[in-house]
Amino acid sequence: MNHVNIGFAGTGRIARALVSGLCRKEQITLWGYDREPAALKAVTEEFPVSPCPSLEEIARACEVIILAVKPYQIEEVLEVLKPYLSDKHLLISVAAGISTDFIQKCTGESIKVIRAMPNTPAFVGEGMTAICRGTGATAENLALAGELFSSIGRVAVLEEFQMDAATALSGSGPAYMFHIIDSLSGAGITCGLSSREAILLSAQTMLGAAKMVLTSEKSPEELKHEVTTPGGTTEAGLKILNEKNIRQILAETVAAAAARSRELMK
Ligand SMILES: NC(=O)c1ccc[n+]([C@@H]2O[C@H](COP(=O)([O-])OP(=O)(O)OC[C@H]3O[C@@H](n4cnc5c(N)ncnc54)[C@H](OP(=O)(O)O)[C@@H]3O)[C@@H](O)[C@H]2O)c1
Repeated sequence: MNHVNIGFAGTGRIARALVSGLCRKEQITLWGYDREPAALKAVTEEFPVSPCPSLEEIARACEVIILAVKPYQIEEVLEVLKPYLSDKHLLISVAAGISTDFIQKCTGESIKVIRAMPNTPAFVGEGMTAICRGTGATAENLALAGELFSSIGRVAVLEEFQMDAATALSGSGPAYMFHIIDSLSGAGITCGLSSREAILLSAQTMLGAAKMVLTSEKSPEELKHEVTTPGGTTEAGLKILNEKNIRQILAETVAAAAARSRELMK
């Protein structure tokens, strides 16, 4: 990768997660601007990020600009950036529900735009980021974005129409997993474990099972069958999950989040 200046427009929660991974990469110089001085100070004090006094300065200093403000704030940021944008820039938006088309309409059709949906496990280097490119962006732009986001975990390249699904599954997914760990822990406490023990057993089991899925050639269904002995404890537990139709519950969960993502885009 050639040397690249990356500027953050907005240095809140998700920007900090990204910075924590990107700052470990060579060939990158990081810049940041936030209208909230405390947010800018927090990131520049903890990480090697140079503060910029304005969005204009971000555009002057950087070839890659990461739009890390709330979805309803994107339009305002693009309005300020627009006069300073040119062919040299690549905009990467992490705003949920904001399409590349919308960004190009605000900035000009020829502007290169990548849309990304990271998630908060990025804080511990285990993020899942879905990325897609706008009509003005090239395969090289997409590859660069993939390389940048791989510093905070895994990356999936998708088509834009799939981004609502990614938002609903991996973007919102950490909250579902926290909820499941919390519920499993509660069940463990009821069965006699302490809160600490129950959380450890639940969270490590989820981590281990996820690692097996990611490193195995086998499907999750095959892995499940391998650990389910007829008449055993696992089968007794799975019977309840099936009777209560956990598949249906999760299908409705993800569908509701995807519908909300589509609504936000409007
Ligand atoms: N957090 C997540 O888990 C997550 C995951 C995936 C994607 N995202 C996306 O990431 C984006 C940012 O989320 P976040 O949680 O990091 O938000 P955040 O913590 O609120 O950070 C955004 C920062 O940008 C600042 N800002 C707003 N308008 C600005 C402007 N015109 N110029 C400069 N700075 C400005 C905000 O200041 P004020 O406080 O004054 O508004 C705030 O400090 C969202 O679009 C979200 O959809 C978040």
